[in-house]
Amino acid sequence: MRKKIVAGNWKMNLLSEEAFNLANGVSEVLASVKDVQLIVFPPAVFASSIIEKNQGLNVGLQNFYPAEKGAFTGEISVSQVKNIGATHVLVGHSERRAIFNENESFLKEKVDAALLHGLIPVFCCGEPLEIRKVNTELSYVKQQLIDSLFHLSAEEMMKCIVAYEPVWAIGTGKTATVEQAEAMHKAIRTWIAEQYGKEVSEEISILYGGSCNASNAKELFACENVDGGLIGGAALQVDTFITIAQAF
Ligand code: 13P
Repeated sequence: MRKKIVAGNWKMNLLSEEAFNLANGVSEVLASVKDVQLIVFPPAVFASSIIEKNQGLNVGLQNFYPAEKGAFTGEISVSQVKNIGATHVLVGHSERRAIFNENESFLKEKVDAALLHGLIPVFCCGEPLEIRKVNTELSYVKQQLIDSLFHLSAEEMMKCIVAYEPVWAIGTGKTATVEQAEAMHKAIRTWIAEQYGKEVSEEISILYGGSCNASNAKELFACENVDGGLIGGAALQVDTFITIAQAF
């Protein structure tokens, strides 16, 4: 059964007190949204404290390096992520692809490393505006899945979460329409079914991300193939994040 999930990607925002208050606020309402899994992705420097202070809250890391340890100055190893008690990791976010040049084969390594250490990868995919403009978004996103995800076994695949985040919708206030979101989510589920069978495709949560907020979450989450959201800006306030979590 597909889980309903609402995840907050805090990106490079907030200072310690703000981050701890936000995490506490989310923790306090966990019980009231029992059928929805909430995950927060705070900046890495705060993750360990947030995990210690908020039992029961799923905390993920926005980034990590796919090696055990070694001479990788400035990086956080996959085993360190696991070691602090994080449960999820983002892989393939468009900001990491565009700003930090993370390519398909590196993302594939990250997916493998996460799974090997028992972390759940939230694999982000999505097309930039120039691709949407020429109507090639389906083949573009399919290729992202083929390149970095479809080498997995069915058993591994079932552990993953997919997030469709059209790049033109991220931080722009320009959300995908319900038709655009559902068309892509349905296509993603179909490709997973073609690769792994219907049973697997019906286990995987596919989240929508890109200017999803308290006003539009309800209609997006009502789409047959949208199982929740990966929220950026609107996840930085407890009230809006919780309103989104209650939008199913
Ligand atoms: P916004 O919700 O701010 O558009 O960001 C979406 C996102 O990138 C989540 O990972």
